[in-house]
Amino acid sequence: MIEQLEQIEANAMQALAQVQSSAELQTWQNAHLGKKSPLMLVIGNMQSLAKEERPLVGQAGNRIKNNLQTAASARAESLAVAELSAKLKAESIDVTLPGRPHSGGRLHVSNQVLRQIYAIWAEMGFQVYRSRDVETDEYNFQLLNFPVGHPAREMQDTFHTHIPDVILRTHTSPGQIHAMRQFCPEPIRVILPGMCYRYEQITTRSEVQFHQIEGLAVGRNITFSDLKGTLTDFARRMFGQGVRTRFRTSYFPFTEPSAEMDVECFLCSGKGCKVCKYAGWLEILGCGMVHPVVLSNGGYDPQAFTGFAFGMGPERIAMLKYAIEDIRYFWGNDLRFLKQF
Ligand code: PHE
Repeated sequence: MIEQLEQIEANAMQALAQVQSSAELQTWQNAHLGKKSPLMLVIGNMQSLAKEERPLVGQAGNRIKNNLQTAASARAESLAVAELSAKLKAESIDVTLPGRPHSGGRLHVSNQVLRQIYAIWAEMGFQVYRSRDVETDEYNFQLLNFPVGHPAREMQDTFHTHIPDVILRTHTSPGQIHAMRQFCPEPIRVILPGMCYRYEQITTRSEVQFHQIEGLAVGRNITFSDLKGTLTDFARRMFGQGVRTRFRTSYFPFTEPSAEMDVECFLCSGKGCKVCKYAGWLEILGCGMVHPVVLSNGGYDPQAFTGFAFGMGPERIAMLKYAIEDIRYFWGNDLRFLKQF
């Protein structure tokens, strides 16, 4: 019987040596010290032994039980140490590593240029006036002196909606009518920024959506000299005090006379380069004296009031300023492009 117990002990010790984790140790406990383990079965079966054998077997049984328990707790301790150090190793943090770079957001290049332009006009006393992106044919064209079927409409291919005569504005000029109808008969000095939409082939130079900043001044004694002086002052504030400007005659149905303003190419100082196509000049806006028909559509008496208006494209200005060769970059959402500004 004693021999059997010693065999049980040897088996248990051997099995304990194989245990690699706390979970395995728990299984070992059940198998070798649990109620149904060989050892416990022997200890529980003492009554069936001869009387003189019982104390010997009892002593041996208890000694083996204690041995196994001591060995198991020693094993448990060493496993706990090993498991803890494995966990620490797996979760270790190298505090000497540099931090991950935080890339902060920034304003889109169009917004940067828009804000620069707002600030300049604000200094000159022009207020920002906003109007809607979705317009009627009446405001976008008819009230601006483009009658139905007028060939000048072809300059601005239009996005129509499923509602007849409701369109996306092709320019910010309909805002002129909204502003005039709101402020009449007071004098006006506003800029009207916003997104415009044209149903055009997308190319390096034209997109289906782009910003415009319209300007409008209406008063009793406004002349073409005021238009030239104000826009020249704007160009100097925007591109530098030394910049030269020139006005070329043009045509818009809602202004008469009409002009386009060029600034001397600020990349080559007028000598001629790729950006100005060797002309030395860059066109930056359309302008003119508000047409009498448009003034009266806005509620003003064209005999008593005059005004000037202009429209410029901030994306175009940004392209010139930063030598961006393709307008598609603006809405392409490519971070490599956006991060440069
Ligand atoms: N609305 C014109 C365009 O989109 C620009 C313009 C505005 C011209 C105001 C004259 C006066 O081309």
